[in-house]
Amino acid sequence: MMKPEELYPHAKQAQNKAHAPYSKFQVGAAICDEHGQIHCGCNIENAAYPIGCCAEQAAVAQMIINGGKTIKQILVVGKAGETCPPCGACRQILFEHGDATTVVYLEGPEGTFLSRSLAQLLPEAFDHSQLDK
Ligand code: THU
Repeated sequence: MMKPEELYPHAKQAQNKAHAPYSKFQVGAAICDEHGQIHCGCNIENAAYPIGCCAEQAAVAQMIINGGKTIKQILVVGKAGETCPPCGACRQILFEHGDATTVVYLEGPEGTFLSRSLAQLLPEAFDHSQLDK
């Protein structure tokens, strides 16, 4: 189980690369996959606002292209010392590449971290099992 302290510098490094000229709200995410490999992402906004990409989504793309399949833990950082909870769409995307036990770490005040499961963040999720019925 990778600790948030290990993922934190990776998420911060990715956050610094964010392309967020419109919201000026930079987000970074770092995933630990089933191999213990780390994959990062930042938000990438667009002048056509709705097609911007969240940091979590960018990190999932990195994981997939690098051969990872399952999100074991993910840390998301926004404003320093404040929680940046994944948006609703990202919760669904994280569920697709994780499961109810996937751990989502959020930054808290003064170097602390909160830990949530995807079961907590997305209860009664819609997933492939509904399609298979
Ligand atoms: N954002 C993320 O990257 N992840 C989230 O879960 C919340 C929001 C980004 C999207 C947009 O570029 C900026 O933060 C402000 O909403």
